[in-house]
Amino acid sequence: MFDLLVRNTTLPDGRTGIDIAASGGKIVAVAPSIAGEAAREIDAGGLLVTPPFVDAHFHLDGTLTLGLAGKPNKSGTLAEGIRLWGETQPFLTAEGLRKRALAYCDLAVSQGLLAIRSHVDITDDSLLGVEVLAEVKAAVAPYLDVQLVAFPQMGYFSKPSMPGNFIRALDMGVDVVGGIPHLEPTDALGHLATTALCTLAAERGLMVDMHCDENDDPLSRQIETLTYETRRLGMGGRVAGSHLCSMHSMDNFFAARLIERMASAGVAAIANPIANMTLQGRIDTYPKRRGMLRAPELMAAGAAVAFGQDSVLDPWYPMGRADMLDVAHMGAHVAHMTGDDGLRACFAAVTENAARIIGLDGYGLAPGCNADFVLLQAADPADAIRLRPVRLAVVRRGKVIAETPMQTTRLALPGRPDVIDPVRSVRAAS
Ligand code: FE2
Repeated sequence: MFDLLVRNTTLPDGRTGIDIAASGGKIVAVAPSIAGEAAREIDAGGLLVTPPFVDAHFHLDGTLTLGLAGKPNKSGTLAEGIRLWGETQPFLTAEGLRKRALAYCDLAVSQGLLAIRSHVDITDDSLLGVEVLAEVKAAVAPYLDVQLVAFPQMGYFSKPSMPGNFIRALDMGVDVVGGIPHLEPTDALGHLATTALCTLAAERGLMVDMHCDENDDPLSRQIETLTYETRRLGMGGRVAGSHLCSMHSMDNFFAARLIERMASAGVAAIANPIANMTLQGRIDTYPKRRGMLRAPELMAAGAAVAFGQDSVLDPWYPMGRADMLDVAHMGAHVAHMTGDDGLRACFAAVTENAARIIGLDGYGLAPGCNADFVLLQAADPADAIRLRPVRLAVVRRGKVIAETPMQTTRLALPGRPDVIDPVRSVRAAS
């Protein structure tokens, strides 16, 4: 007797007619026509089941604060977003931070997003954000994995207390060492900050994830130092560069050499396609650059690449809905990854690649993995990115924790079907 049996699924790797059985919080069988019964059985009807979506880059302390300071981001720039975030600080309370973070986690679960790496600003010496998000992390742990990154929004050298704030934040249970070297007072100080923070992470056996080169300056090359330090400290596989927007604008020869070095050093790249398209290129006239890292080239070189959401309803981005398929959809367009292989790679960038980069244990659709998965109203990963469909069922440790009804539309048209749905009606006609 299984706890849960999902029949007749399609898997992201293309296998069809596959049943998935779960017991004791784990997947115990993945095969056609599994014999046996379950406490709950779901007929997937041939639709796609995927491991959960994973957001490798987010800011849970900033989310849903749009308008808290009473002003919109008029210029749409990163700089105005950071300024507005500063003006938002006096309005931040423990209760408000907790309420917004928990509300976002609810939304995430409804979208099948069950793991989030969130940066948390440690600029304010109170470390209020760390305190609250550590509580939120513990509260949501039964249904959603939150990983916290200590993030110096204004820079490591922005204030004398910042090195101490890092130590305190890590002692409070923050998981990952962050940074923002391109925002340090000088380029040289950015490199020094990178070295100091990578050394700190190495001493504590922690991962590193730095906001890095989030600008359109082709000579912003902090990622070069992050890559060097990764190799020097033997931290391959535990370091990520987030954003890396300048890579879009870099000289092609330099970029090609950098990509090769990143891949061989084991430095992962986390693009944030929606945020990058919103915030970059703002001081260009025409043509306007895209400001997104070179995802297909990094993937081809063997580097791990994920796409993150970064922001939802905050001073940097006034939209968003915790849907990682929105992120994959934007990434596919920005990076010209619209071929079949490209779409599959974009799907991986918000699922398995992101899980690998943040070091998520027990992830996948194989016996022995955690029984965490999502049934989508889509035929395959490309269809999922095309439709960004409802999540029919979200499963955590073998239990359904969110359900959304199938989307159908009733038509009143002469000689046409009474009801259509976005998957089967299109399939039937094509
Ligand atoms: Fe960010």
